Amino acid sequence: MTTVEREPWPLTRTLRVELGNRSYEIAVGEGLLAGIGRLLTPIVSARRAVVVTDAHVAPLYLDPLEESLTAAGIACSRVVLPPGEATKDFAHLRNLSETILAAGVDRASLLVALGGGVVGDITGFAAGILLRGLDFIQVPTTLLAQVDSSVGGKTGINVPQGKNLVGLFHQPRLVVADVTTLDTLDGRQRRAGYAEVVKYAVLGDAPFFAWLEANGQDVCSGVRLAQIHAVLTSCAAKAAIVAADEREAGHRTLLNLGHTFGHALEAETGYGDDLLHGEAVAVGMMMALELSTRLGYCPSRDRDRLRRHLQSAGLPTALSDLPRRDWSAAALLDHMRRDKKVRNGRLNFVLARGIGEAFVSSDVAVAEVERLLKDATGG
Ligand SMILES: NC(=O)c1ccc[n+]([C@@H]2O[C@H](COP(=O)([O-])OP(=O)(O)OC[C@H]3O[C@@H](n4cnc5c(N)ncnc54)[C@H](O)[C@@H]3O)[C@@H](O)[C@H]2O)c1
Ligand SMILES: [Zn+2]
Repeated sequence: MTTVEREPWPLTRTLRVELGNRSYEIAVGEGLLAGIGRLLTPIVSARRAVVVTDAHVAPLYLDPLEESLTAAGIACSRVVLPPGEATKDFAHLRNLSETILAAGVDRASLLVALGGGVVGDITGFAAGILLRGLDFIQVPTTLLAQVDSSVGGKTGINVPQGKNLVGLFHQPRLVVADVTTLDTLDGRQRRAGYAEVVKYAVLGDAPFFAWLEANGQDVCSGVRLAQIHAVLTSCAAKAAIVAADEREAGHRTLLNLGHTFGHALEAETGYGDDLLHGEAVAVGMMMALELSTRLGYCPSRDRDRLRRHLQSAGLPTALSDLPRRDWSAAALLDHMRRDKKVRNGRLNFVLARGIGEAFVSSDVAVAEVERLLKDATGG
């Protein structure tokens, strides 16, 4: 039997991340997995690839991807990792590295990260260190990975001292975001990824926020054109910021909107299924806008507008929306102190002058943040 490779759908858009000789394209569209071999051949000359994925994604998408690579003359082997954040550790990195080397890769081989942010981060890291650097491509299959983790070149693993503390910058050669893969993602994961989409709108794109108010439901329910527009606009926002500040010397900090509070909530809950990253970011963005309002930067109507939109997307907007009850303002503040540099009682923070206008302030009084956390936790 001969397999006929399906033509990529016309619904494909590409954009470029401009990083000099490390520039790369992001292709966003429907049904792209089956055409990935043809997207790749003009970009890399690899004849051999190792596809890394996880045990949830493998039965869904590994076969069509491998068929497409094989049809393009690229020989494949596969590594299937256990799903979940716990996979991003030294033990799995070691196994992964040894398996990839045992597959007989050389400097001209390619790694393919097929999956969510966990697979993308550990595969990108392995690509960065093996044989002093292999090419890799990102094929993100969660909304979070499509709009965030697959773009920008941050790779790494977690250690007991904290998340993502061991890693390096290693840009992929190509990102292929096939929105069809989002169909199998569970609703909660999809909503969590959507919080990052909203983040791009809040930090720098008021018209996109208005578009999300009108079309966010379609993005979450799987209307293709809406998904493609949302993913593309998000990637374009991230690409522009990364191009301006690849290593987070300044401007890239804007991407942390909602994350200073969000990371504290995640650290308190232990990075498990109780609180997904995007859920923490949703609550964190609300806190950041509340802080901005209290400090006199942001009109309260913009804060309320964000709350309404996150609620309409089914995302939490306050600690009281989360299952956990016993939050402590002091413990949260401790995490934030550890996360951020505090100088003379002042914290570095991403604030907003309104929807679409975030800015970095190095002058937020710890006492003000403490007051806000006390109000949010009820004491
Ligand atoms: N490198 C970066 O810049 C960056 C940015 C943001 C987040 N991250 C990292 O990303 C990770 C989180 O990524 P995530 O939210 O994608 O989590 P994830 O990779 O754990 O995926 C979530 C779950 O969805 C499953 N899954 C993936 N695709 C699926 C599909 N199409 N259908 C059904 N199930 C599917 C996975 O197996 C997993 O169980 C964190 O480790 C975080 O640190 C990195
Ligand atoms: Zn995030």
